[in-house]
Amino acid sequence: GKVGVLFGGRSAEREISLISGSGVLQALKSKGIDAHPFDPAERSLAELAAEKFDRVFIALHGRYGEDGTLQGALELLGIPYTGSGVMASSVGMDKVTTKIVWLAAGVPTPRYVTIAAGADVDANAIVAELGLPLIVKPPLEGSTIGITKVTDAAALQAAVDLARQYDKVVLVEQFIQGREFSVPVLGSGPTARALPIVEIVAPEGNYDYQNKYFTDDTKYHCPAPLDAATTAAIQAHVVNAYRALGCEGWSRIDVLLRESDNAPFLLEVNTSPGMTTHSLVPMAARAEGTSYEDLCVDILRSASL
Ligand code: DAL
Ligand code: MG
Repeated sequence: GKVGVLFGGRSAEREISLISGSGVLQALKSKGIDAHPFDPAERSLAELAAEKFDRVFIALHGRYGEDGTLQGALELLGIPYTGSGVMASSVGMDKVTTKIVWLAAGVPTPRYVTIAAGADVDANAIVAELGLPLIVKPPLEGSTIGITKVTDAAALQAAVDLARQYDKVVLVEQFIQGREFSVPVLGSGPTARALPIVEIVAPEGNYDYQNKYFTDDTKYHCPAPLDAATTAAIQAHVVNAYRALGCEGWSRIDVLLRESDNAPFLLEVNTSPGMTTHSLVPMAARAEGTSYEDLCVDILRSASL
């Protein structure tokens, strides 16, 4: 049947979605699938309904694509779609709510505080509680947008002001010194399984927007050079974390391994992960012998309502 590849969109990650979606579109076409692009930033829901897609592949990132709003529209239109449903998409978009669910499920995640919309920033109290450095994040953003590492209390206010350009509530997390990993998960419910772990070695530990997508300075190791027990422990935490949120189809979860004691900390889930040439889900699939094209077909096959 006719397949829509939804990409573009109007979030701060539009630029990345355009790259992800054109890759997915080309891959599906190369497999003989009748795939067509659809950019919900440029076209209306009425036009989406009129396309009469049998199912859609969501290659949108961030707001109005990954956050449950589009998923709700597709439910109402009765069009099966890839990835998580309304609730897991919206919970997964919010790093604070994600942490609350994970803590209730026994999934380790860095300690944190939130700063309410418009509230004063008591830098000394926050540093007393979480220590230094701190990581300041707009909780609904992706691709490292609006994130600052704060190494002294005097710099906290400026970091909060930057995060507030994106979101009302601000997340402040304890900084975890250690190695950085990301782990894709494929499947749903009892069949959910982790792919090989990707280790990310960014210049000076700075895996920011540029080093994610546009430089070749970041090094990746997949499968990550970890002993079998550590690999299994991280993958088990990641699958628990995915199930706790009720994710479906596919996702990618970011993990830190603390240098001092090898303790894992889960940071966030990406329910509509990047599919660019630098992206990690395709990299992990390749390490298992699955091509980008076959990965796209597998994800499309999991589309549901
Ligand atoms: N938010 C970006 C697209 C990712 O996690 O891959
Ligand atoms: Mg993210």
